[in-house]
Amino acid sequence: MLILAVETSCDETAVAVVEDGRRMLADRIASQADMHALYGGVVPEIASRKHMEVIAQLADAALAEAGVGRDGLDAVAVTYGPGLIGAVLVGVNFAKSVAWALGIPLIPVHHVRGHIAANYIAFPELTPPFLALAVSGGNTLIVDVKDYTDLTVLGATRDDAAGECFDKAARVLGLPYPGGAPMDALAREGQESVYDLPRARVSGSPFDMSFSGLKTAVVNLAHHAEQTGEALDKASLALAFTRAVSDMLVPRAIAAAQACGRRCIVAAGGVAANSFLRSELERACAAEGYRLYIPPLALCGDNGAMIGAQGYYEYLAGVRAGTSLNACATLDIGTL
Ligand code: KG4
Repeated sequence: MLILAVETSCDETAVAVVEDGRRMLADRIASQADMHALYGGVVPEIASRKHMEVIAQLADAALAEAGVGRDGLDAVAVTYGPGLIGAVLVGVNFAKSVAWALGIPLIPVHHVRGHIAANYIAFPELTPPFLALAVSGGNTLIVDVKDYTDLTVLGATRDDAAGECFDKAARVLGLPYPGGAPMDALAREGQESVYDLPRARVSGSPFDMSFSGLKTAVVNLAHHAEQTGEALDKASLALAFTRAVSDMLVPRAIAAAQACGRRCIVAAGGVAANSFLRSELERACAAEGYRLYIPPLALCGDNGAMIGAQGYYEYLAGVRAGTSLNACATLDIGTL
């Protein structure tokens, strides 16, 4: 089954062609990051307009790369939330038009379900059930994936997403947007134990997380150094920050897997590209006897293939949308 998959939830326009949920025939991504970097973060109005400009060309390019004609498509899958509402609307309307014009089914896909499904492309042997740690710019979730379309949230951030926190911390350290990758590189040059940053706990909710206090701690350190003229060891601060994020994510993922009896942990989302987090997850999973899957870097960030992968399993489960499909800024991963 050939699915045209569309993703426009933030600042990447992506269109992919995916076969049977597992094989990526093409994945065209147009990143707007350079444009938003001028403003230090995503400007929603610009994001929507840029999606509009490139989406049809990207679809043509993806079909050409896949060697598939429009009449060869069996369905269209699209991210319908969560995300920047204007940005998601562009993808939803484009996908609706294609499905309507070709007379093929339209499949609505939850963006974070898509991130998790990127692993189905990367690892053909992977099947649910498993525990997923989904960490991106807009979402930080610990999810029990009981089946392809049966997901339950065990823990979530109560405030900022981990990626958002990386971006804000990077900004005060003078790094460009998006800050995750530059922070990753800078942290590799840092010394351990120079800075001591907080790790939050949410009382009574062992798998929930909070990143805003960590973000504020980095901002305060940077401002204090600026005001007093004290030298800031940026690399060591980046390392302390990354370790604090990892300390909030990794033990919770292991404990959640233990609590729901899963033997396999799957990482997903843009922050799963972080080299320190990847090695900490590997270390912890090896020590505790869990099988770990982390997608290759190209499948961590937003892409269309992940939407095609999840779209396939939603299709098999009978999920369809009509022309009244709307975009959702927020959306529970357990709902469809
Ligand atoms: O998954 P994604 O592309 O978009 C959302 O669905 O939100 O994630 C983007 C986030 C950004 O916050 C970016 O800074 C972060 O992922 N990121 C990283 C790394 N690469 C990207 N964070 C930490 N380390 C990285 N290497």
